[in-house]
Amino acid sequence: MRAIDIIEKKRDGYELSTEEIEFFIQAYTRGDIPDYQAAAWLMAVCLRGMSNRETRDLTLAMTRSGDMLDLSDVAPIVADKHSSGGVGDKVTLVVAPIVAACGLPVGKMTGRGLGFTGGTVDKLESIPGFRTDLSAAEFKAQLARIGLVITGQSVNLAPADRKLYALRDVTGTVSALPLIVSSIMSKKLAGGANVILLDVKVGSGAFMKTVEEATALAEAMVQLGRDLGRRVGALVSDMNQPLGWAVGNVLEVREALDVLHEGGPPDLREHCLVVAAEMLVLSGRAADSAEGLAMATRAIADGSAWRKFRAMVAAQGGDVRFVDEPDRLPRAPIVEAVLAPADGYLQKVDAAQVGLAVVDLGGGREKKEDLIDHSVGVIVRYKVGDAVQKGTPLCTIYASDRARLERARARLLAAHTIGPEPVPPLPLFYKKIA
Ligand code: URA
Repeated sequence: MRAIDIIEKKRDGYELSTEEIEFFIQAYTRGDIPDYQAAAWLMAVCLRGMSNRETRDLTLAMTRSGDMLDLSDVAPIVADKHSSGGVGDKVTLVVAPIVAACGLPVGKMTGRGLGFTGGTVDKLESIPGFRTDLSAAEFKAQLARIGLVITGQSVNLAPADRKLYALRDVTGTVSALPLIVSSIMSKKLAGGANVILLDVKVGSGAFMKTVEEATALAEAMVQLGRDLGRRVGALVSDMNQPLGWAVGNVLEVREALDVLHEGGPPDLREHCLVVAAEMLVLSGRAADSAEGLAMATRAIADGSAWRKFRAMVAAQGGDVRFVDEPDRLPRAPIVEAVLAPADGYLQKVDAAQVGLAVVDLGGGREKKEDLIDHSVGVIVRYKVGDAVQKGTPLCTIYASDRARLERARARLLAAHTIGPEPVPPLPLFYKKIA
């Protein structure tokens, strides 16, 4: 087989065979196909699309390109969740311990933040000592012992995706549906969980900008996961404003702990309870969403979810004094409010710009290799639809230097639209694909 024939076949709109897709992906992962040929092939896929069969074959080829975790000797059912990425999305930190406390083991490999989106690994690393580089053996041992593990992708999961994603990023080929589906699902399948809840975000702080696009992505991933024998469900959720109030690593950990202690922002709390409930339903632990919600609510109220989080931190080398007393977590030296410039209603937030304000502060990455300052971030004070009073704090900035603070302040002011007309609050969810 030759790469050029496969590129030309896709360019001309033909369906690729299972063998051709397998050949292309494995040869590219090994380095036998150069980036320029892979880039041409990606563009052909972008323009010509892929059938469901081709997308499934591509996903499987990418899944097989590296290590695949087999968790069947740990527990018969292991759950995972995936968010398509957002701003202030600390849902995993709350949901995973809730679900684990309800007796459903959760094993999750997750990523770092890039651009305006935050990453769960970065958030967890704001807890001093917390390890996110567990080996496959450590991952499985902890899952067996406490039923909860969240680590970085230290295992070689879907290396084809790592190479292809970097290439897509610089060749205008990120947005093709079969490429997104295979990218997300190959990592989930290789991670070994058999219950997978997908939280597909839509809006100004998300990758998908319309509910239609997000629904198409969610439906394609659910169908593919089911075809491959996993129990998969999806929620299409709003990301037209940050989720909760906190954006930035330490601030988000603190907010997640507040929710686990029955406090925190109402939108975040409700979002987490719904996601946890759907995971419990998918696994069969709850008969329906109402029972799932009741179980999740109880796990917060009786402290078992918080204890599960604490047990995970201890198991992964984190210093639990920071969980017991979150005031000990590092705090940025400069704390300053951004005052509302006018009276009115908060009509719109550009959530991606709020995420980028945190990058301005040093709390996120422009490039993969960038080091980050976990202590900096932003607390937003208003949700879309709220009445805003001129001169009251619109946001609070946590910064480590003044020049960065001023950059973030300008961006935050521009990201908030205040107008005289009242607007309705935004929904938390648009759709459930069950
Ligand atoms: N997230 C991924 O992991 N892959 C994509 O292609 C898009 C979002």
